[in-house]
Amino acid sequence: MAVSVRDVAAAAGVSVGTVSNVLNQPDKVAATTVERVQTVIAELGFVRNDAARQLRAGRSRSIGLVVPDAGNPFFADVARGAEARADEDALAVLLGNSDENAAREDNYLDLFREQRVNGVLITPASDDTDKLLRVQASGIPVVLVDREVPGSTFCSVSVDDVEGGFLAARHLLQIGRRRLAFVGGPEGITQVAQRLDGARRAVAEVPGATLEVIRMPALTVLHGRAAGEEIAARDVGERPDAVFAANDLLAVGTLQALTLMRTIRVPEDIALVGYDDIDFATAAVVPLTSVRQPAQLIGRTAVELLLRSISEPDGDYERRVRFRPELIVRQSTAG
Ligand code: RIB
Repeated sequence: MAVSVRDVAAAAGVSVGTVSNVLNQPDKVAATTVERVQTVIAELGFVRNDAARQLRAGRSRSIGLVVPDAGNPFFADVARGAEARADEDALAVLLGNSDENAAREDNYLDLFREQRVNGVLITPASDDTDKLLRVQASGIPVVLVDREVPGSTFCSVSVDDVEGGFLAARHLLQIGRRRLAFVGGPEGITQVAQRLDGARRAVAEVPGATLEVIRMPALTVLHGRAAGEEIAARDVGERPDAVFAANDLLAVGTLQALTLMRTIRVPEDIALVGYDDIDFATAAVVPLTSVRQPAQLIGRTAVELLLRSISEPDGDYERRVRFRPELIVRQSTAG
């Protein structure tokens, strides 16, 4: 791990700001302090990060991050990864929650411009990139997180959600299930649409397999419970024998509703797969099979891309990073 500004500050017994002053404006610091900090820099082998140094004067030492649901542990982990990488350059992350609402998203973008952040990371609520282009034109680089916008020129870090949906549905088919249900959210959420697309591709490969779509207003535990209750209220012959939920919050809610009906067993009667592999997936009453996304790595990589777009605007590096999903099999689809 590279030596950070914080490591130097801790070893020298001064604040991060003092270290920054020693590096950038040593005349503002007592000579004895300058000498002590410089000694520590030499001892630890600290090397200034070009991106940090090149962060333009007059910018706050912060990065803005807008996510669609701060209550979703997946995005909390994305934020944690972003903060860890930003902290290595003594930058702070300002977190905004849009609730998939374009007006709230606009408010945060305006606030981040007023705050003169060094860059914006955003999971956009729609494919409308005009406002993001305006932010970028104002000199603030933008990196899309967990979504790509077709045709846009923004850097982005995402996961192949079509492949993720395919893995989830194919796994259910491989354990012998044929009447699948996809419990999803609004079609406008790109990740949901792509996961459903992947599931449909897997089902199309198995003659006789079916996939019904149960669309909920949002991707929350409560909406998952409502979907589970709807399934449980059906006659046995009308129920699916497997559920693929668009994310783990929906899956946990669906699981709660199904297991509360003492007559339904998971996975024996209805197998269940979620998406994200948040910590709750493992801790669920029936440990949840889920499609893992490297949430913290997504956040970390987004900050790295942002800093490189500042320090190497014309550099030769991949501007659209797409990670591959991984199926984590647990008890909710065992046997
Ligand atoms: O925002 C909805 C979902 O998309 C989240 O649960 C996470 O899976 C993200 O990729």
